[in-house]
Amino acid sequence: MENADRVMSVAEAHRLDKPERLQWLPPDLVLSLLPLRAGITVADVGTGTGYFAIPIARAISCDGKVFAVDLQREMLSLLANKLIATDAPSNISLVQGSADATSLDSESCDLAFLANVWHEVPDHAGALREMNRILKAGGSLAILDWRTDVEHPPGPPLEHRIHAGEVRRYLVSHDWSCDPPTPVGRYSYIVLCRRAGTFKRPPVA
Ligand SMILES: C[S@@+](CC[C@H](N)C(=O)[O-])C[C@H]1O[C@@H](n2cnc3c(N)ncnc32)[C@H](O)[C@@H]1O
Repeated sequence: MENADRVMSVAEAHRLDKPERLQWLPPDLVLSLLPLRAGITVADVGTGTGYFAIPIARAISCDGKVFAVDLQREMLSLLANKLIATDAPSNISLVQGSADATSLDSESCDLAFLANVWHEVPDHAGALREMNRILKAGGSLAILDWRTDVEHPPGPPLEHRIHAGEVRRYLVSHDWSCDPPTPVGRYSYIVLCRRAGTFKRPPVA
């Protein structure tokens, strides 16, 4: 599988919860850039250990719902343990699935969030088809990933990273309407998009 060597291994998962990460990628700062409101449904695709899923679940209140989706069952086990060990909100459902086949219901989500995973995804076109399928009309897609113009560590090698402008151009060429990329934290950018047009699908004649 193309990009299979880019998928973060479970052995590296401890890096996601290093205390210093709170300094260089504060969850509150990221959340302030997302279209969150009480009661919405969010798919956190490539959730890892739930660094974002947990604060998002709090932000959308108990009326809202987070689907924490990850390819690797072991990542979801780490998140499950974290949910048990902390006073985490109960509105998080763990889902094993991939960005191009999440198994979530069609038109079930208001926001799909992919944090630090786009550069690991092998099939971008398939992932966009899937995000379009699971999003409600008027739903949003947010892609956060690593900047290409800053040195590492932390993060993946520079040659694995995808320039923010390239991500945006790709999305626009696939009919998404995107804001200009915004730098966030010390090493990241975020691209926020909506499906172009008001209606996702023409009515069946
Ligand atoms: C670098 S971690 C980021 C985790 C989390 N989003 C964060 O920022 O803390 C990437 C996660 O995406 C998952 N992943 C990689 N490729 C994926 C795919 N195609 N579909 C779903 N999850 C994927 C990996 O298993 C890993 O848990």
